[in-house]
Amino acid sequence: MKEKLEAIKIAALSKLSKCTNLDGLNDVKVEFLGKKGELTTVLKSLKDVAPEERPKVGQMVNEVRSLIETKLEETRTALAEKLREAKLASEVIDVTLPAKKPVIGHRHPNTLALEEVERIFIGMGYEVVEGPEVELDYYNFEALNIPANHPAKDEQDTFYVNGDILLRTQTSPCQVRVMENNKPPIRILAPGRVFRSDEVDGTHSPCFHQIEGLVVDKNITFADLKGTLAEFAKELFGEDTKVKFRPHHFPFTEPSAEVDVSCFKCGGKGCRFCKGSGWIEILGCGMVHPKVLRMSGINPDEYTGFAFGVGLERIALLKYEIDDMRLLYENDTRFLKQF
Ligand code: DAH
Repeated sequence: MKEKLEAIKIAALSKLSKCTNLDGLNDVKVEFLGKKGELTTVLKSLKDVAPEERPKVGQMVNEVRSLIETKLEETRTALAEKLREAKLASEVIDVTLPAKKPVIGHRHPNTLALEEVERIFIGMGYEVVEGPEVELDYYNFEALNIPANHPAKDEQDTFYVNGDILLRTQTSPCQVRVMENNKPPIRILAPGRVFRSDEVDGTHSPCFHQIEGLVVDKNITFADLKGTLAEFAKELFGEDTKVKFRPHHFPFTEPSAEVDVSCFKCGGKGCRFCKGSGWIEILGCGMVHPKVLRMSGINPDEYTGFAFGVGLERIALLKYEIDDMRLLYENDTRFLKQF
């Protein structure tokens, strides 16, 4: 029995000394100290030992057990320490490595163009207001002198929510809402999203942005409109920019005009940018139609006004020389980060 215990002790210590990980340590524990382990087997066979020998043998078993337990714990501590050191060594942080650069966002060309337009008009005393994107047919058409059977209603392919409610096709309804709720003098800029059921291509999108301008006061004339837009064009495209007013028709203004600016790329000589004409169309405008003033509760005999409507994307495309409107909506960061 004594030799047997001695053999168990030597075997256990030898196995422990060869352990390289905590799993191996557990195996040794099970093999020697477990319920079916070697020492337990010896304890069970104690009944075959002569009664007077039993206490002695029992004590020997206990000694071997506690020795193995102590060694096991020692090995566990040593192993844990070794593993910790190995882990620390493998996780070294190289403080000299370059840091990850935070990705910085960029303002969208539309936002930049809008801020520029707002800056110019705020400088002239305009107030920026907003109107609803989901609008009543009345404000989008009726009150702008576009009656039910007017061809202009077909030109602007409208998204209807129901018979009376639609997605606004233009920012012009803001004019009516402002005039209904304010007394002249009025000087507002109303930027916002507009919707038309257009196919997407390089110059069209079912959702785009306009900026509406409206001035109403006593003695406002077409000369005020011309002066204002000439100043706007200079501020936006450069001091040498000239404007040209071409007669046009809009139901809510009379007279109406479309405005071209001299090409800021070639100075008016004609280039690829202005398609050889030297001029680039940028907006529609006119004197607010007396009927529109009256419908909005303003007396046209007392007050006159002018209005204009600019396509924001058009300004952004021109200003930043972008040749396809779709780029403005895809939000590819490789494109956006250039601005
Ligand atoms: N609402 C017009 C459109 O979407 C643009 C416009 C033209 C607005 C003339 C105006 C204006 O205020 O006076 O085509």
